[in-house]
Amino acid sequence: MSLKKLKIRKTLKDFIPYEWEVSSKEIAKKIKIKEKDIIRFDTNTSPKLPKKWLEILFSNLKNIKLNEYPDTSYLTLRKLISRYLDLNPNNINITNGADEGLDILAKTFIDKGDLNVISSPTYTYYKSVIQIAGGKIIEIPRKVNFEDDDEEIIRTGKRNNVRLFFLCRPNNPTGNSIRKETVLQLLEETDSIIVIDEAYNEFTKNNDSLVKLIKIYDNLVIVRTFSKAFSLAGARVGYLVGSDRIIKLINMVRPPNSLSVISLKLAEIALNDLNIVKENIDFIVKERERCEKKLKEINGIRTYPSETNFLLIKIDNLDYEYVFQELMRKGLVVRNVGRTRGLEKCLRFSVQDHAENTRLIEALYSIFDNKNL
Ligand SMILES: Cc1ncc(COP(=O)(O)O)c(C=O)c1O
Repeated sequence: MSLKKLKIRKTLKDFIPYEWEVSSKEIAKKIKIKEKDIIRFDTNTSPKLPKKWLEILFSNLKNIKLNEYPDTSYLTLRKLISRYLDLNPNNINITNGADEGLDILAKTFIDKGDLNVISSPTYTYYKSVIQIAGGKIIEIPRKVNFEDDDEEIIRTGKRNNVRLFFLCRPNNPTGNSIRKETVLQLLEETDSIIVIDEAYNEFTKNNDSLVKLIKIYDNLVIVRTFSKAFSLAGARVGYLVGSDRIIKLINMVRPPNSLSVISLKLAEIALNDLNIVKENIDFIVKERERCEKKLKEINGIRTYPSETNFLLIKIDNLDYEYVFQELMRKGLVVRNVGRTRGLEKCLRFSVQDHAENTRLIEALYSIFDNKNL
């Protein structure tokens, strides 16, 4: 093969890509256990996929026109989401997962050299989409216990040269939420685009969402997904919520047909079965509280309050890399975030089914040689 000098974009030269999760197959090979014995706690997904939804999908399959493109306006799903959020369908734009939503937002709003703010540490894909669009990143470090630095966020916003804020509420990987008052102040006092990523919103107390604010502020965009509370990460369905003007701009930029007709159908089935969704959310929240309580009893593990389907823990008395590897050796794969600035010695794990969570907790107890379980 003749190796040409590839003409890649300059912006990609110093680009640090999003770190993909390794497949279970690769992990199984590396640690020499069977793939089926691996439990993934590292993807923030749900263990609860209702069988009933698949049965409804199967019984619908023969009517789904796979030879045709989907309705590009995705109207049926937009209507169902608008009913779920009590908003107008015109204020909703469907995306291929929330990640595509973030990508579309960067393409719509960020020009080369523009400044964009994130409250670090946060979801790492924001950096990727900003950099790919040629934008610059202002990272505002979080304070003690991962609280957002509200004053600095507002001060930076008031400089009026920020194109866009990516704020994750509640935040991945720290589990806490930026104060509503801070977001309101940003919306009032700046003309930046304020993106609130609500991927984990359904796990918050009293469903603390900011979607309704799009009726008042037309520089606000909310990012949502079916990957977490709706248990449909594999279907890849997300959506953006914004004012008429925002959605019109997004429609100019977004790919016309990025969703499969099957994924659209699955999201529709889920929205028609909200009782099950609610049951699953309640289950995850209860399990999260149980895990937190048990882990608090281990001397050497620090837990942080979470409003999501995952917990962030800090390892104090032992080397966190050792704890990570020991769990991995038992087939329990958690997310090692300890090398990220601001998350030193931290591990993150998503709440799974009862038995799986118990296995993880027991493994941590035995690693810390604490027999109080
Ligand atoms: C904060 C946040 N936003 C967006 C996403 C991406 O979600 P999706 O699966 O819908 O692309 C994730 C996934 O983990 C996330 O944590």
